[in-house]
Formats: sequence, structure tokens, C-alpha cells
Amino acid sequence: MPRITVGRDEGDVEEFGEMKGTGFLGKHILGEQKEASLGNEVRMDIARPHVMGIFGKRGQGKSYTMGTVAEELVNADDAVRNNLSTIMIDSMGIFWSMKYPNNEDGAILDRWDLGPESMNVRLLIPEGHEEKCREDGIPFDRTFAIKPGEMNSGDWELAFNIDPTSPYGILLERVIDKLKREKGTGFSIQDMIRTIKDHDEFDIDVRRALVNRFTTADDWGIFSPDGITVRELTQRETVSILDVSMFESLSRGWSVRALVVGLLARKVLKQRMESKRVEELEEMEGLPTSDSPIVWMLIDEAHQYIPDEGQTPASEPLLQWAKIGREPGVSVVLATQQPARINANFLSQMDIMFVHRLTAQADIEALGEIMQTYMRYNITELIDNLPRQNGAAVILDDNSERVYPVQVRPRKSWHAGGTPTAIKDRGRT
Ligand SMILES: Nc1ncnc2c1ncn2[C@@H]1O[C@H](COP(=O)(O)OP(=O)(O)O)[C@@H](O)[C@H]1O
Ligand SMILES: [Mg+2]
Repeated sequence: MPRITVGRDEGDVEEFGEMKGTGFLGKHILGEQKEASLGNEVRMDIARPHVMGIFGKRGQGKSYTMGTVAEELVNADDAVRNNLSTIMIDSMGIFWSMKYPNNEDGAILDRWDLGPESMNVRLLIPEGHEEKCREDGIPFDRTFAIKPGEMNSGDWELAFNIDPTSPYGILLERVIDKLKREKGTGFSIQDMIRTIKDHDEFDIDVRRALVNRFTTADDWGIFSPDGITVRELTQRETVSILDVSMFESLSRGWSVRALVVGLLARKVLKQRMESKRVEELEEMEGLPTSDSPIVWMLIDEAHQYIPDEGQTPASEPLLQWAKIGREPGVSVVLATQQPARINANFLSQMDIMFVHRLTAQADIEALGEIMQTYMRYNITELIDNLPRQNGAAVILDDNSERVYPVQVRPRKSWHAGGTPTAIKDRGRT
């Protein structure tokens, strides 16, 4: 049966064909609404880096689709598997269930000639939450932590909403400069607190206010001088799910999540750019190159990380991924209910978009700039004509400048999102 492969240009089709280095995402929808039937397989290129968006109003299948993409990355074919490493940012604590087969949907899977399957993923939780997760029966494989020494003053300012030109901002900068000079990146939050107190050229109230903030940060359970390294996180053939949902209970919960994502994005990109340079040198000297894997980062509820208005610690690093990431080899997949609330510059970098049903006019219009590429299609009408069924979406493929209505395939692994589960406090969408 002929196939549709999105995200693959003609040169790559000639080089790899239509199958190698692609993932099976769903089937082409033929006809409209109630008359719709399923046609050709729709596949997606995973051999190259991409900037992807998944949109749609609540409950339409965004997180589910993101899981389908992740499954294809887990089970990539031999041509690319060794060259992939995936990090999923689990904002709401729903992706742990990928470890379990989707037995509930056995009948649907059967219709697609697929079967329930558990996925080989690593579940990571923040170091300081280990005990609580054990108590609550939340499954995990290991912990992760951020080194305070790897954060710069700008990260803290964004996380705490501190004006860099205020006394707080100036003190913060001095403290970080001093500690970096003395200890490199190997210092703790307690070292920071001690150093803040030592700077008695600052008013006691200023010092106290800053100490309070860092005392709070210590309670987040995310900082440790010996956090997981980026190298460990980006090992070949691994899919790591970073559960950051436990920060939900904090008043600055999204800032904390954004700190994690921002730092990770910055470090991964840096590492990839450095290895790219090494690879090029090796190539010049005629040595076999040791290319590092393409790193995929999948982020649900993305408007919280890279909003159109204001900045988070993740904004700039994610924008960098989208703008320059193709060359060093990083890919990013964002899912959100409201494309209008995502940074417009980021939006304009997307080369593959899944648009599930959207209602708000502003959200459809947010796709406007991108939609100009697809002038010959009436995207609004295509979205309106989708069958009223979860997982139906219009795919916009920048590589071919074509648009396809698609039914996303059922998940092989269990999708806990939306389903109340036996495990306490889990399974929110
Ligand atoms: N491709 C699909 N095939 C079958 N069911 C789906 C599909 N996509 C979504 N669903 C169903 O819809 C529910 C909501 O999807 P979800 O991705 O959690 O919504 P949201 O868009 O809010 O992230 C899922 O729990 C699942 O039951
Ligand atoms: Mg969701």
C-alpha cells in the first residue's frame, strides 16, 4: 500500500526510501465526518531533527499523540535506533504508564493489526521526592537532580521573578560569581545561603529576602551538587521520562518545571554543539566520526514553558533548540491546548504540526502565519471536517508543504492520561 511520509524531503526519500528511519503514526482519513474511512499509512521521519507541534482542545488526544510519537522513538528501526536519545518532560505525571501494555484497548489495537506492548523507558523522579514517591507507590527507576552550580543568575531571576537591576539581583550575581570562582560548579544551595549572609555590604532585609527564596528552593527537592549528568541522560537508545508533576503543589510550580527544562535544554544543546565540532575535526582528519545521538525532547503543556507573553527559564533555551537545533541534532516536540499562547517565534520554526480539533478562533489564527505556506488548503475547513473522534488531526508538513487529515494510531502502551488509576494521585491529564 502506498504510504505518506511526513517530515522527509526528497533527497532523504531517495537515500533511505520511505520506510527506513520512520515511525508509524496513523492512517490517512479519506472523506469527511461520518463518511470518513481510513486509507494509507502515515509515517513520520525520525532520522532527522524536527520541530514539531501538537495542538488541540482538551481531551482531543494531544498527550496520547505525543505518547505515540514516543513509542515510535522507543521502537525505532535499526537504521536509526542507535542514533536516538529521548527525554520526555512529564508535566502532569501521565507517561509512567508507558511501561505497561495497553490491554484496555486490545480490540482497537487488533483492528489496526497491532498488539499491546510495554515500552522500554526509564522513569526519573526528582531526587528529593524519592521517599514520597515510594510511599505513594509511584513507580520509578532512578532520580535526577540539578546542580545549583550550573544555574546562572538569569535562571534564578526568572524562576524567582527578581529584577536583575534590583539590590536582590545584584547580590545574587555577586554570590554566584564568588561561588563559581571558588568552587566551580560544585556548590550547594546551603553554600549559596551562607554566602548571601556573608555579603554584609547589603541591607539585612535584602539578604533575608534572598535567603528566604533559596530556603524555599532547597525544599523543592530538585537541587543537589551531584545531579545526573547530561551525558547519562542522553545515552543512545534510551527514552527517559522526567516526572516533574510533583511540583504542581508549589506556588511557583511551573517556574520550577521550567527551570528543569531550561537547564536541560541549554546543556544538551551545548554538548551537542561541542561534539559536532569534534565530529567535524575527526572528519577533516579522516578519522571515523563518533557522532552523538540526536536528542529528542517532548514537552506536554508547552505554553507553560515557552509562553508568548513573558519569559520563563526555559523560553530562551527552547527557542535556541528550534532555531539552531537542526545542525547540532536536537529535536523538539511541543504539545499545547493553545497555540496562541506559545511564543510566536517558536511556532514559526515548526516543520511538522498535528492539529487536533481546535475551537478558539485565536488558536486557529495563531497558526495563520504558518498556514500561509499551505495557501492552497483551507485548514479551518479541514479541521472542521475531521470526524468527531479522539485522535483525528490534520497534519501540516512543511517539508512537502502538504496537509493530511490523519487518524493517529492507537497506543501500544497504556495511556494513563484521563483514566482514574489505582495508583494514588496519578492519571491526570
Ligand atoms: N489516537 C487515539 N486513538 C484512540 N483513542 C484516543 C486517541 N487519542 C486520544 N484518545 C482518547 O482520548 C483521551 C484523551 O486524550 P489525551 O491525549 O489525554 O487528551 P489531551 O488532548 O487533553 O492531552 C485518551 O485518554 C484516549 O482515551
Ligand atoms: Mg494532555
